[in-house]
Amino acid sequence: MSAQAPQPPRVAGPETRPWQRLRELVSTTGARHLRELFAADPQRFEHCSAQAAGLLLDYSRQRVDAEVLATLAALAEAVGLRGAIAAMRRGEPINTTEKRAVLHVALRQREGQQLGGAAIEAQVLAERARMLDFAERMRRKYRTVVNIGIGGSDLGPAMAVRALARYTGGAPRMAFVSNVDGCQIADVIAESDPVTTLFIVSSKTFTTQETLANAHAAREWIAGTLGDAAVPDHFAAVSVNTPAMNSFGVHPDYRFEMWDWVGGRYSIWSSIGVSLAIAIGSERFLEFLDGGREIDEHFAAAPWKANLPALAALLGVWNVNFLGLPTLAVLPYDERLARFPAYLQQLEMESLGKSVTLGGTPVQWSTGPVIWGEPGNNAQHSFFQLLHQGTPRAALDFLLPARSSSGRQGQHDLAIANCLAQAEAFAFGQSLEAAGSVHKVHEGNRPSTLIAFEALDPATLGRLIALYEHKVFAQSVVWGINAFDQWGVELGKKLCAALVPAVTGDEEGAGSSGAGSAAAPEHLRPLLGALRGWKQGS
Ligand code: F6P
Repeated sequence: MSAQAPQPPRVAGPETRPWQRLRELVSTTGARHLRELFAADPQRFEHCSAQAAGLLLDYSRQRVDAEVLATLAALAEAVGLRGAIAAMRRGEPINTTEKRAVLHVALRQREGQQLGGAAIEAQVLAERARMLDFAERMRRKYRTVVNIGIGGSDLGPAMAVRALARYTGGAPRMAFVSNVDGCQIADVIAESDPVTTLFIVSSKTFTTQETLANAHAAREWIAGTLGDAAVPDHFAAVSVNTPAMNSFGVHPDYRFEMWDWVGGRYSIWSSIGVSLAIAIGSERFLEFLDGGREIDEHFAAAPWKANLPALAALLGVWNVNFLGLPTLAVLPYDERLARFPAYLQQLEMESLGKSVTLGGTPVQWSTGPVIWGEPGNNAQHSFFQLLHQGTPRAALDFLLPARSSSGRQGQHDLAIANCLAQAEAFAFGQSLEAAGSVHKVHEGNRPSTLIAFEALDPATLGRLIALYEHKVFAQSVVWGINAFDQWGVELGKKLCAALVPAVTGDEEGAGSSGAGSAAAPEHLRPLLGALRGWKQGS
């Protein structure tokens, strides 16, 4: 990692001249219908699309013109986005509230790149090789592999294993356990044979309540069925917390390192991705890393008007701050990407859910949008009605592979046609004249971006994830916030720890042992009483 060089003070987007210009453009370009914008420029697709690293970003249905695009590029310059990218790649402590470097890009580097410095490169490559060797051996040894983790220690691998189901031939059955309530671990135990099951406890901190509860349940099952001595053979772990792995009893050969410069939601590229490596094999995993790295190089070098993550970020800023669209629906036209919206929810909302600047002052502008979504074809038959004709507005991202992920190209062609039809309907709508009834009018002018690619393979998935990671970073630079901490989740954890004794009925005992320092607040007691009554069957 580089010496902790002082960072130049950053200017947030709203303090710059391009931002002021964008405010003026809202009443001109921002007020024009997409029908007009298309009519004014017969080459709109050529002017409003960009292609790199196998991804095609078609933003012709965004409510922008050449002047808005140029001003957004000027905004990227004015906030020093290029310098911010370089600072991240040098390993400067850009996660200022935790005083940490942010080096997920170092996880996908190849030999000789020295991202984060020579020592970090050496650590990354050595741990990657160990992890991939382990993954190959476990692939052959076990019939069921269960990842126990939550948030960034679950969503990435769970989403990616599902997305790359086509590439999992010969792999064990993969299962993912995250929720504290016990349902998932109960299902896994019911469906698995302890002799042929491997659990991977994925937890950067190894202190997360949900993960520990599930890991202990799994260990009890293994010890109860196979005996205590069998435990080390059935548990692997990924964490920065060596003492906790020691006390859990994880064998040294079955544990993998993490580093504090990898954020949980950016960690699929590290050994947190071991379940993905087991599922798709080491070669495919390396292709996945290669895909991410292609986008890293592109993001660091491409001019803003051709830079996919920067374009996605700047269009998002235009939608949130200038067109007043506070939500983004993510709509994959590929069932295998069903968990991609959930993955992006953590990536974007945990990163951009901030309302204080890097300098510690409250922001006076909107920041991260609400991210939500579903496979687009299903969404057409559920919530699209509201998006087409309801009063709330959302921006939309369509994700579209050309080739089928199931081998049923004929059916996938129908999915492609559906996706394009929806993008068109959202953009152009339907006039009263064409509709014949006021109830059938579609106003249109709902902005969307279409991200197309050849096929959902490991490299492409890596590219897609890296695209959104860098989009998030670029937006954080514009909004002047830290994308890499997550203090907002801590309060709930603290309150939960204090409430456990009141819920389990162990309030006094816990109080005297210091585990639950505060009793339940008075106003919760009637509710706790009602729940206790139901638990006891009265
Ligand atoms: O919910 C907050 C969080 O800290 C996430 O950022 C993280 O991905 C998740 O919990 C899991 O944390 P860990 O890997 O330490 O168990």
